[in-house]
Amino acid sequence: NNHKKMEVDQNEELPTKFDMEMTIKYVANHGNDKNDFEYTMTEFLRMSGIYWGTTCLDIMGHLDKLDKKSIIEFIKNCQCKKSGGIAACDSHDPHILYSLSAVQILCIYDALDEIDIPALGKYVQSLQQIDGSFFGDKWGEVDTRFSFCAVAILALTNQMNLIDVDKAVEFVMSCVNPDGGFGSKPYAESHAGLIYCCVGFLSITHNLHRLETEKLAWWLCERQLKSGGLNGRPEKLPDVCYSWWVLSSLTIMGKAHWIDGAKLKEFIISCLDTETGGFSDRPGNMPDIFHTLFGIGALSLLGYENLKKINPTFCMPEEIVSKIYQAQILEY
Ligand code: FPP
Ligand code: ZN
Repeated sequence: NNHKKMEVDQNEELPTKFDMEMTIKYVANHGNDKNDFEYTMTEFLRMSGIYWGTTCLDIMGHLDKLDKKSIIEFIKNCQCKKSGGIAACDSHDPHILYSLSAVQILCIYDALDEIDIPALGKYVQSLQQIDGSFFGDKWGEVDTRFSFCAVAILALTNQMNLIDVDKAVEFVMSCVNPDGGFGSKPYAESHAGLIYCCVGFLSITHNLHRLETEKLAWWLCERQLKSGGLNGRPEKLPDVCYSWWVLSSLTIMGKAHWIDGAKLKEFIISCLDTETGGFSDRPGNMPDIFHTLFGIGALSLLGYENLKKINPTFCMPEEIVSKIYQAQILEY
């Protein structure tokens, strides 16, 4: 029971207040030092890093702190001329994960027309398999994360007609477990990150009625531990990013009140690194931009003051998602 001991060290002096100014600076300056060890080591996920940063800053009302022009230029250079897919970084191979991050950033900047959207649609279409599942890229790994990315990209770019949605739904439903949760593929164990992907997928494709809501919501609210933090699977440690994966899923299902929001808020704020303004996975650890977005995102779902509302399905500002859906309705 080592993990129980490690859960949270109650003797430490943990932060109880969230200073947004410092967090804005942390995110805005992230990646400014191109020689920084962490920055150099994370080239393979640069596109997602930019998505985490732009979303986080927009939720805090400070998107102006980043350079829109250079970000859009970067994205254009990452779209593969041959496949239409988008890579994490120029000269890398395209992948559906970074294609979604790129689309999310472009939506935030209202700049979807800067890339070749039909070519991106064809790329997503080319990754669908006979059983309805999706490959992440040409190498052929299958995962429910990729089903989510596919429908999220196609919904945001209004191209859902390019894939077999019914087949895609059948594949995701073949990944339900007896505990009500979802894994990465059929018979894989339930995991909160993949539950977010599958619940988000079902929400985007208008299939939330296929969920066993009570059972799944119970599994999700049992992720809350004494510290208030949430874990991703039974017997695991709490982690700030699971505040997002779990609470967004519960929010989509209308069951966010099944966890103790006040305790969760306390846990998230206790993961703030007061020296840098970033959030870490657990109190006292090194902060990073990934956990900073998911900490702020969960605080937004909890209705934290001075944060914009975040959309629980797309993990983007609610105002952006509703504008895009509104424009699509007007097109018809
Ligand atoms: C945990 O990862 C999280 C997941 C498996 C979900 C990832 C979801 C996506 C990539 C979809 C796009 C996301 C958004 C927000 C638009 P982990 O590798 O940290 O798992 P571990 O905690 O078990 O190590
Ligand atoms: Zn984490």
